[in-house]
Amino acid sequence: MAELRPERFLSQRSRSVDASGIRKVFDLAAKLEDPVNFSIGQPDYDVPASVRQATIDAIQSRKNGYTVTQGIAPLLERVRGDLERENGCSPAVLVTSGVSGGILLALMALLDPGDEVVIGDPYFVIYKHAVKLVGGVPVFVDTYPDFRFRVERYEAAVTPRTKLMVLASPSNPTGVVLNADELRQAAELAERHNIILLVDEIYNRLAYDAPCPPALKHAPHRTLLLRGFGKSYGMTGWRMGYAAGPAFLIEEMTKLQQYTFVCAPSIAQYGALAALDADISGHVEEYRRKRDLVAERLGGTFELARPGGGFYFFPRVPARFPNATAFVEEAIRNNVLIIPGSVFSQKDTHFRLSYATTNDKIERGCEILCRIAKG
Ligand SMILES: Cc1ncc(COP(=O)(O)O)c(C=O)c1O
Repeated sequence: MAELRPERFLSQRSRSVDASGIRKVFDLAAKLEDPVNFSIGQPDYDVPASVRQATIDAIQSRKNGYTVTQGIAPLLERVRGDLERENGCSPAVLVTSGVSGGILLALMALLDPGDEVVIGDPYFVIYKHAVKLVGGVPVFVDTYPDFRFRVERYEAAVTPRTKLMVLASPSNPTGVVLNADELRQAAELAERHNIILLVDEIYNRLAYDAPCPPALKHAPHRTLLLRGFGKSYGMTGWRMGYAAGPAFLIEEMTKLQQYTFVCAPSIAQYGALAALDADISGHVEEYRRKRDLVAERLGGTFELARPGGGFYFFPRVPARFPNATAFVEEAIRNNVLIIPGSVFSQKDTHFRLSYATTNDKIERGCEILCRIAKG
């Protein structure tokens, strides 16, 4: 019987990508007893009752079959109306299986092998790997130490092969929210070099100092906006998001969705529609206080950029550690789970802390991290 050698069967494409470093931390976490878990990428609050009810109603009224590929009409209409009010333009919209679904469809629709994608470093880890999976080349722009958009750095990364520039606001892993001026400059850069601007706003409802400025309005004809429901409404497992942008691109992504995801989960689309009317201001307030608590507890010991949204901090590891991984290993030995910056970056100098946990754990975890940092 012939031996089944993985190298014989697994594609180069698949083998070019390694398992997420976050998974490795999760594996370690499984062995710890009652750790302070600062590694989680989802809120610790529950889905709003109205959203759960709308989804149960959808199940009970037999809305369990496929939907049309682009998404159910009432959700599309609602999203289009909201975007029009917010941005003063009417983009085409596609309901996607999470923002990850939107990212993959966009990259499949846009990239030929060798096409370059300019990505701010640190970045959400899927961008790098998804670009590679479709044969594209990620080109990273160093945004340290404050993780803001600096047009000259991005411009220097653009080449004739650049098709796309990716921004996330609020960002994972830094929590930085781009201001209107930065978004305008990004749109102008895209215009100057005739490239598409992809803006990932999955955390846009979780903004603590001011509402996130709308990204779509600066160059709506070349901006692809991706938004999701998972983070804001505690429904990450429901796999719901949407893409909004130029009709030619949304049509192409819809065609590809037809042959891949088929449609976003049917019952979750009814839940998502209800989510758009759910009041999460209490959670936003609670997370604002958590953000302030972490800033207060870590600020004196670590160098950090104060995040304006999301639920992450990306502090710098003290210089006495050779790299962030060494610091993270020491933290894990002390029962605190954090993620080394190398998972999100070409550098290994920072760590990601998610404060989507109880205040008690935040207090305990920050105290331990400060103790380790001081040595
Ligand atoms: C910036 C960013 N974009 C997209 C995603 C993926 O979102 P979804 O769960 O909707 O696929 C995440 C999840 O961590 C994220 O942090």
